[in-house]
Amino acid sequence: MNDANKLIIVSNRLPMVLKETNGNWQLEAGTGGLVNALAPVLKERGGVWIGWPGGLEEAPIRKIFAQSEKRLGYNITPVSLSPREVDGYYYGFSNETVWPLFHSLLGRAVFNLDDWETYREVNGKFATAAAEAAGEDDFIWFQDYQLLLAGKYFKKLRPGITAGFFLHIPFPSPDIFYRLPWRGPVIRALLNYDLIGFQTRKDLRNFIHCVKSLIPHARVNYRSPYSVITWENRTVLTGAFPIGIDFKKYNDLAESREVEQAAWFLHEKFRGHKLLIGVDRLDYTKGIPSRFEAFALALEKYPELRENVSLLQVVVPSRMEVPKYQAMKRELDELVGRINGRFTTLGWIPIHYVFGTLTPVELVAHYRSCEIALITPLNDGMNLVAKEYCASCIDNRGILILSEFAGAAIQLKTGAILVNPYDVEQTADAIRRAFTMPAEEKIKRMQRLRHQVKKYNVYHWVGNFLNAAGAVEGSQD
Ligand code: UDP
Ligand code: G6P
Repeated sequence: MNDANKLIIVSNRLPMVLKETNGNWQLEAGTGGLVNALAPVLKERGGVWIGWPGGLEEAPIRKIFAQSEKRLGYNITPVSLSPREVDGYYYGFSNETVWPLFHSLLGRAVFNLDDWETYREVNGKFATAAAEAAGEDDFIWFQDYQLLLAGKYFKKLRPGITAGFFLHIPFPSPDIFYRLPWRGPVIRALLNYDLIGFQTRKDLRNFIHCVKSLIPHARVNYRSPYSVITWENRTVLTGAFPIGIDFKKYNDLAESREVEQAAWFLHEKFRGHKLLIGVDRLDYTKGIPSRFEAFALALEKYPELRENVSLLQVVVPSRMEVPKYQAMKRELDELVGRINGRFTTLGWIPIHYVFGTLTPVELVAHYRSCEIALITPLNDGMNLVAKEYCASCIDNRGILILSEFAGAAIQLKTGAILVNPYDVEQTADAIRRAFTMPAEEKIKRMQRLRHQVKKYNVYHWVGNFLNAAGAVEGSQD
């Protein structure tokens, strides 16, 4: 792929969501790592983004998006979904089957035949939209677990066009993946893509193990930087491409006057307390309850922390129509109430819990004002919040406590304090360690982190992936 080829991104979500208030339709920024990583890339390169706008069919979708294309710097092709499709494909198979299974949280996975059928149908719908938009020399890049099957339908319609796929979430071990009743069709459909990217080498290894055991006559040629799978006259390049962030955007915003003012406001509000920050979508993979338990244990075990530290936890609403997410919200409300009830004193509240969305300025001001980031997912493809925190620590003074099960841990292990999020005591001890860490050590660690995040930024990621797309042609010769 070279700069003249058009880039077409296909993801379940568009970078913004349609919302209706009193009969008026408005666009709101989407949340989640995928959208935040890809939006600046497409803005810079131009191209097309195909995806679901979040609202239902009756919204005047095309008109609203046509108005904002100029500002965005790329074209939008919305794919409308009916309530039945949203239910079966999005809430059902994507978020009640694939999401928990791929995060290795088997107990939360639901297997429902109707949802699977709708998922297949809707993957076909996204593939058709991509096939209609694609010119002969374009590169079509499908994203994430909602579109595992789209490559198969796309190649039926446009066999000559190169199609890549990137999985933003983990790929589970064969042991877990094997529980999926449709494991064979999923693996075979994935092998219709010409290029498949994963966040880490571990995800790539898991995928290749599944391919080898489910399709015994597939041949795998382990090469660096890409492993090549050959099956039924098809050649598929696979590789690990850890996603990054737009470092400069966060760094520059952190240096701006608006952020400085907002950060000062936070400092004044919490004067005399060290702040820990947590920022997550409402999701059971993010390990928020065990994080709260670890913070409470730290206060119990190390009384010198009381009245001296507070945890500022931002939880961004997500997938609220799924009952498990509603239950999780109730669990968090109850847990915060219990911990604050146990420790609060006059003038000090241990956990400040915000359930809502922050503006970019507020978010970066939070990153800047908090001495410690506590990012403890049970399992996470990458975790961009960890990288955004480092990019925003312009004075090198922040400390990152990071789960060893976040994809980001592989790149950030040299500067972060790594913890097992299931080990509440270890996490509590890490909080104490961060609280007492000497300034020189903090600075050295954060310098290393910022160097990594800056070097392996989102443009580096996209460049690597598109280079691999260029190598696809060679591999097929
Ligand atoms: N985020 C946001 N609004 C907020 C708080 C966070 O858009 O109020 C963003 C955050 O900047 C990050 C993304 O949500 O880019 C979360 O990405 P991450 O990879 O950490 O997790 P994901 O939500 O994709 O599982
Ligand atoms: C994660 C997933 C994305 C998803 C995002 C927000 O980042 O990898 O594919 O878009 O969460 O979730 P939502 O269900 O609101 O799109």
